[in-house]
Amino acid sequence: MKKIFRETSSKDWKNDFHTIWALTRQHLPRLIVAILCSLALSAINGGIAWLVKPSLDSLFVEKNRTILFLLPAGVFLLFVFRGLFAFLNNFLMSSIGAKIVKTLRQALYNKLLSLPISFFSKKSSGSIISRVLNDIGSLENLIANTARNFFVQSTTVIVLAVVALLRRWDLALLSFTIIPLVVLVADRFGKRMKKTSKKTREFISDVTKMVQETVLGIRVIKAFTMEEKMRSRNDEAVSRHYRNVMREVRIREFTAVSMEIIAGAGIAIILWYGSYLIINNKLSVGAFFSFITAIMMIYTPLKRLSQVNNNFQMIRTALHRVKEIFLLDDEVSGKIDKPKIEGHIVYDKVSFRYPDSVEPALKDINLEIQPGETIAIVGYSGSGKSTLIDLLLGFWKDYTGRITIDGLDIRDYSLKSIRSHIGVVSQDIILFDDTVKNNILFGRPEATEAEVVEAARAAYAHEFIMDMPQGYDTYIGERGVKLSGGQKQRISLARAIIKNPKILILDEATSSLDADSEAKIQKALESIMPGRTTLVIAHRLSTINKADRIIVMERGRIIQQGSHDELFSSGGVYQELYSAHRQA
Ligand SMILES: Nc1ncnc2c1ncn2[C@@H]1O[C@H](COP(=O)(O)OP(=O)(O)OP(=O)(O)O)[C@@H](O)[C@H]1O
Ligand SMILES: [Mg+2]
Repeated sequence: MKKIFRETSSKDWKNDFHTIWALTRQHLPRLIVAILCSLALSAINGGIAWLVKPSLDSLFVEKNRTILFLLPAGVFLLFVFRGLFAFLNNFLMSSIGAKIVKTLRQALYNKLLSLPISFFSKKSSGSIISRVLNDIGSLENLIANTARNFFVQSTTVIVLAVVALLRRWDLALLSFTIIPLVVLVADRFGKRMKKTSKKTREFISDVTKMVQETVLGIRVIKAFTMEEKMRSRNDEAVSRHYRNVMREVRIREFTAVSMEIIAGAGIAIILWYGSYLIINNKLSVGAFFSFITAIMMIYTPLKRLSQVNNNFQMIRTALHRVKEIFLLDDEVSGKIDKPKIEGHIVYDKVSFRYPDSVEPALKDINLEIQPGETIAIVGYSGSGKSTLIDLLLGFWKDYTGRITIDGLDIRDYSLKSIRSHIGVVSQDIILFDDTVKNNILFGRPEATEAEVVEAARAAYAHEFIMDMPQGYDTYIGERGVKLSGGQKQRISLARAIIKNPKILILDEATSSLDADSEAKIQKALESIMPGRTTLVIAHRLSTINKADRIIVMERGRIIQQGSHDELFSSGGVYQELYSAHRQA
């Protein structure tokens, strides 16, 4: 896709054309047949206009009776063929449009998967989603309609123009003076249309974002009785979108009206000169009506052609925005795959600052963790605990210093390899809208059903899963059964366990758990820790107590480390944290 969206200035229409061509090229056979249909359609249109002269002249001037029967039959046949070719043409063009959109949808999703975490933390995920969906959705009809109109209408215009010229060249040239006017009007409005449609797309993404945010945050909105405020924010976003849609409508309709007026003037001039020629016996009635038919028939295709320009501008706008995502850099991965590791982790003078922040989130971190060791990391909120493990997972690259696993810099490992050795239970637990079984299998899709149950047992989740309506096949998440915080944690723990990772990371949720859940998670941890290097970002004393060593972080630094007794007696942050916990 990156090849298709070449990196040149986005203003360059040639480059846009190249993009569209690259997307269409895969469907060349269909396109060729469709274009042949367009040619046939145009030829039939030309034929209808051309046959008006012989028909009229023999019917009304010579009063030929055979023509009386041939004419209706011929007209009927021409319309049948025109219908057939139009059907085939529309069908093929629409299928090309739909195929391109399908390719784009798949490619964009792949792209989203391969983008680095930094991309997702920068823009709100709502606007990413709406950009992807709205722009591609709008392309679906645009591509098909524009291509169809372009090929059918341009050839029809040419054929009809030839008919008109052959019937009476000076009359034809006279009416053609109108064409530059038409093009001029179309071009002017086309540019304005492009700007407006870009805005509309931005505004609609605001509207979608509002709805998504509200669905996600409805509890907060209700609890804080923010309904009025949200309603007025939504009203404003919807109205802004509405005003812009109406602006688009005005531009489009104004274009149409202008065209109508120009055409009216043209027809008046032609009628005047044509009647003059007929009265002076310089033109037969049949030829004149054949000419008029051609000119009348040219009007609709020309009008559509002017829309082709507008639509082409809309396609370009949508493609530019899609392209912005395709041209982003993918996550950088090293090359080395290690099928087995010991789990020896070293942070060597690691400092890291998030792209848009001033203060570093980690400052000069030096930390060695032995294989099989259990480390508890504690510290106030925002002290850098989650960041420390995000770096280990290779989510962020632009830190200074080195992080090694088994002596090898994690930048040299392939991302796939590192992440295959690390099992994570993250701070905010994400479960997918799927069955319990599939959510656990996410950790290792090829695991057997027995292994799923085993992992669930180890995470002390088996019992409550069996109590659910369909056991392991119960749907959880958005459309399914709602789970408590502790249950969610245990399922996500099972997901990490089934992976059987050498390094286990637990970023405990800050929310407190009920005593039962806490005890069960504690037991689960004890049973799975042996043989693994475990990092627990601990908010609960029960977890801290089981650790071999405790690391205390403050403002991105490790300020204390040791056993509970050592740390507690030396006072400082640890004592403060510990006392706060005991009171809670
Ligand atoms: N994606 C991000 N972009 C910019 N700054 C960030 C980002 N994530 C975290 N930070 C900042 O980095 C610092 C460390 O954050 P981190 O999430 O590591 O804290 P934490 O110790 O895990 O806190 P908590 O206990 O609340 O989870 C904070 O000041 C935070 O505001
Ligand atoms: Mg955190």
